[in-house]
Amino acid sequence: MAIEEKNADEIFKEFKEQSITQFFRKNSQMLGYSGKVRSLTTVVHEYVANSLDACEEAGIFPEISVEVKEVNESRHLVTVTDNGPGIPQKHIGKALASILSGTKFHRYLQQRGQQGIGAGGCTLFAAITTGKPIHARSGTGKGSFECDIAIDIKTNKPLITNMKTTLEDFRGTSVSGEFGDTKYERSDHGVFEYVKRTALSNPHATIKLIEPDGKETVFPRSVNEMPKRPKQTKPHPLGINARDLLDFAHVTDKGNISSFLMESFSRVSAAKIDELRGIAKDINFDKKPRELTWPEAEKLVEVFKSVKWIAPETDSLSVIGAAQMETAMLNIINPQFISVTERKPKIFKGGIPFVVEAGIAYGGDAGKKTEEGTKGTIMRFANKVPLLFDGSVCAITEAVNQIQWKRYGIRDFGDEPISVFVNISSVYIPYNGIGKQAVSQEPEIIEELKLGIMECARKLQIHINKQRNMHVRESRYKTIMRYVGQLAADLSDITGENKGQIESSLKHIVESKYDMGKEDADEEAVESASSDSSAEE
Ligand SMILES: Nc1ncnc2c1ncn2[C@@H]1O[C@H](COP(=O)(O)OP(=O)(O)OP(=O)(O)O)[C@@H](O)[C@H]1O
Ligand SMILES: [Mg+2]
Repeated sequence: MAIEEKNADEIFKEFKEQSITQFFRKNSQMLGYSGKVRSLTTVVHEYVANSLDACEEAGIFPEISVEVKEVNESRHLVTVTDNGPGIPQKHIGKALASILSGTKFHRYLQQRGQQGIGAGGCTLFAAITTGKPIHARSGTGKGSFECDIAIDIKTNKPLITNMKTTLEDFRGTSVSGEFGDTKYERSDHGVFEYVKRTALSNPHATIKLIEPDGKETVFPRSVNEMPKRPKQTKPHPLGINARDLLDFAHVTDKGNISSFLMESFSRVSAAKIDELRGIAKDINFDKKPRELTWPEAEKLVEVFKSVKWIAPETDSLSVIGAAQMETAMLNIINPQFISVTERKPKIFKGGIPFVVEAGIAYGGDAGKKTEEGTKGTIMRFANKVPLLFDGSVCAITEAVNQIQWKRYGIRDFGDEPISVFVNISSVYIPYNGIGKQAVSQEPEIIEELKLGIMECARKLQIHINKQRNMHVRESRYKTIMRYVGQLAADLSDITGENKGQIESSLKHIVESKYDMGKEDADEEAVESASSDSSAEE
C-alpha cells in the first residue's frame, strides 16, 4: 500500500515549544530519578547540599536534620531542616519550584550547587509521582512563614498556596515532600550511606538522620572550624570555550571587547590585550561585545592558547582540610591506620584550577563488611558531596584501579579492609552528566588523583611492612619459646646447673633477640600525613 505523502505545512501544524520543566518531566532520569533507591537518595542529596551551601555562605555551623518516613513501600515523606540563613518569602517559590533559577549558577564560585535545578527537580519529581506540592517553612531572622509549593509544568513557574506567616522563632529552612517510586534501604546507594559520607566530608556539620523505622543516628560536628570561604573569581582565558565566551560577551555591560575581556576574565591586562590584538589582527577589539561572532570567538579561544598566561588564582577553592579529614575518618570509620593528604592546586584544560584531597583508612572498621569478609571500598566526593552512583565511569574509580596496589602491600584491593577517600574540589567539576555522580576522565585529573592516593599508599605500605615484620618476629619467638623449657632441662642435666636459672636466662636471650614487649611507639598508633611529595607509578 502506498504511503500518503505529507508536506511541510502539514507536518509543521504540530510544531510546538516545551518548557524546561516539561522536558525534565519526560527525562527525570537525567536528574538522578531512575531506580527507586537512587531517586530517594537524589532527593536527600539535593536538599542536604542546598542546606550545606546556604549555611556555609552565611558562615553558620550547619545543623541539619533528615527524616525519611514510609508512607507505603514505594512512597516516602522526606523532610530536611537546616539552621541556615533561610529563604526570603518573595524568593521561596522560584528557589524551590522553578528549574534553572537560584543564587549560584551565574557566579564563578565553588559551591555544591551549580545549575539551579536541584530543588525544583525535587518539586517536579513529587508532582510526577504523587501529584502533591512540597511544603516549605523558612525563617530569616525577620519572621517566618510556611506554605505549599507546586510547580506549573507548562510554564516552569511556582504555584504557592496556603501561605501563612508564623510567629515561630525559627531561623533556617525546612522542606518536606512526598515522593513516589522510591525505596528505603541501607545499601551502598541508600540514604544512610549518603548521610554518613556527607558527615565524613563535612566534619564542621552536625547531621541527624531519622530512618523510616524511627532509628535516629547523629553524626556530630567533629571540628570547630568553618571551612575557608572560597573567593568568587573570574574564569581564566585558558579555561574557556567559544560558547562560554559568546554567552559572556552577549550579557556584559562593557562597551567594547577589550574592556569586556579585561573585566570578565582573570589575568587579562592591558598589555595582554595589546598582545592579543597583535595576533588576532582581523578582530576589532573596539567593537561592542554583543557583536562578537562565533568564528571570532573561536579565533579568540585559539589565540588565548598561543600566548603565555599567569596561572589562574587558586583561592577560589574550598577544601575539607587534611586535619579535618583525618578527624572525621577517625570518628566515623574508626580504622587502625590513617593517612591523608591535601595536594596543592593544579590546573586542568589549561585554565581550570582544582585540588585533590585523598585519604586511606586501613584495618579496624575500614572497608566494607560483607558476608564474604571485608572488601576494599572507594569513597568518592566532589566539592565535598558524596558520589554514590555511576562509579564505573568516574575518574576517581579509574585512578584507584590504575594503581598497582601490590606495590603498596595490598595484595587484592577488593579483598582488604581498606577505604580510599578522595575529594576533588573545583569551581567547575567536569561531571559526566546532569546527575553529577561521576567525574569525567580527564587525563590531568586522573594523574593528579593517582598522585594523591599513592602518597597515602606509601605510608600505608610502611605500616603494613611493620605489621608483617612484627608478625614474623612474633611467630619465630613463639616457636623458639616452645623449646626453651625442654632445652633448659637438658642443659641442667648435662651441666648440673639450676634449671630455673637456665630457663630464665634463655628466655631473656630470646626476648631481647626478637625485641618482644618493645613495640614501636607508632606501630599501634594511628598514623597520619599531610605532606605534598610527588610520586611516580
Ligand atoms: N536550604 C536552603 N537555604 C537557603 N537557600 C536555599 C536553600 N535551598 C535552596 N536555596 C536557594 O534556592 C536556589 C535553588 O536551589 P537549587 O537546588 O534548585 O539550585 P542550586 O543549588 O543553585 O544548583 P543545583 O541545581 O546544582 O543544585 C539556590 O541557589 C539557593 O539560592
Ligand atoms: Mg542545589
